[in-house]
Amino acid sequence: MTEDDLAELAIEARDRAYAPYSAYRVGAALLTDTGEVFVGANVENASYGLSVCAERNAVMRMAIDGGSKPRAIVVATQSSPPGSPCGACRQVLLELADDPARFRVVAINTSGEKAAWTLAELIPAGFTGKQL
Ligand code: THU
Repeated sequence: MTEDDLAELAIEARDRAYAPYSAYRVGAALLTDTGEVFVGANVENASYGLSVCAERNAVMRMAIDGGSKPRAIVVATQSSPPGSPCGACRQVLLELADDPARFRVVAINTSGEKAAWTLAELIPAGFTGKQL
């Protein structure tokens, strides 16, 4: 599974977003150490605050299906520059990442723009279970 394959899956997932309120569709494809892929899309709600982002839906699927050690997530949006994961998603990804410095986060859009970070760069000094 190359990063381009993952990007294609994220763009496909974006087509399955349920975003009638914002019309901002987001798709995500997450790859684990063992080569498993979990996709997600944003699912909005009439009670706006209950909307769930694409990245969280993808990583929740990973957790439920027994996946672990995420190595890359590609997030596809329509915006320029491409949208990076929101703060809540960064925190949830951090919870389920074994090694934030080895977890690549890639933001793309359908015009071919791309930006990439590690999760450690996106949420430095994040709060984790180690603090509890
Ligand atoms: N959204 C995501 O799916 N991921 C993010 O990281 C940022 C925002 C969604 C939530 C909402 O459905 C729409 O984009 C507009 O905020």
